Amino acid sequence: MIKIDPEKAVEIKPGVWWVGWPDFHAGFSNNPYLLIEGDEVVLFDPGSRLDEHWSWVKRKIESIIPLKKITMVIVHHQDPDLCGAIPLIEEALGVNNFEIVTTERTSLFIPYYGVHTEVTSVSDGESIEIGEEGRELLFLTTPYLHFPGAMVTYDTKEKILFSSDIFAGFSIDWSLYANEYYLEAMKVFSQPYLSDQRHVHNFLRKIKGLDIELICPQHGSIITKEKIPEAIDTLWNLEVGVWE
Ligand SMILES: [Fe+2]
Ligand SMILES: [Fe+2]
Repeated sequence: MIKIDPEKAVEIKPGVWWVGWPDFHAGFSNNPYLLIEGDEVVLFDPGSRLDEHWSWVKRKIESIIPLKKITMVIVHHQDPDLCGAIPLIEEALGVNNFEIVTTERTSLFIPYYGVHTEVTSVSDGESIEIGEEGRELLFLTTPYLHFPGAMVTYDTKEKILFSSDIFAGFSIDWSLYANEYYLEAMKVFSQPYLSDQRHVHNFLRKIKGLDIELICPQHGSIITKEKIPEAIDTLWNLEVGVWE
């Protein structure tokens, strides 16, 4: 198993870092990710604004690049564990000095956090190109997984799927990379959080043609290539929308 120091940012692919925090007690780790392509500095799902959370993320980002260099924040839905820290980023960078990218439905909620920066809305299948070589980030909507306006991002260069709450897990024995217990952790998270098997199947059909090397969820562990077929299979067959 790959050993990591959870105190430090971890480069999971060239130019892509995990800048999250582990939660060994409640099993609810949060995983913001930082991607740098030339002058573009993209932060995915920045996370909570609580000092005990944001201080981890900020420290880790600043171990790589000054916070002020962030050019884009991509949020996959409107939950506070993704968006709570956006006002703190705005405070540091200034209003409209960075781009916020999400779906139209989610964009309606971003101002509710006291954010004044304009939000760029993207729709299903839309992509943006970043950096001089035009690195493509592809956005796929994932309705009702778990919010009607949720989406995921696929990085075509490093073949990473930033999957937000899909493929996420609750686990007390957290590790950055999925271990032999992760499918169970994923089930425990997915059953109550993912709404309906129809939507899960639609999503899995949608990503079928993508060449994915790494799945990076917003909670739990990163799923490496050899474990992806099993994770997809588990999700496909799982009864979701269950709260017991
Ligand atoms: Fe969520
Ligand atoms: Fe979440």
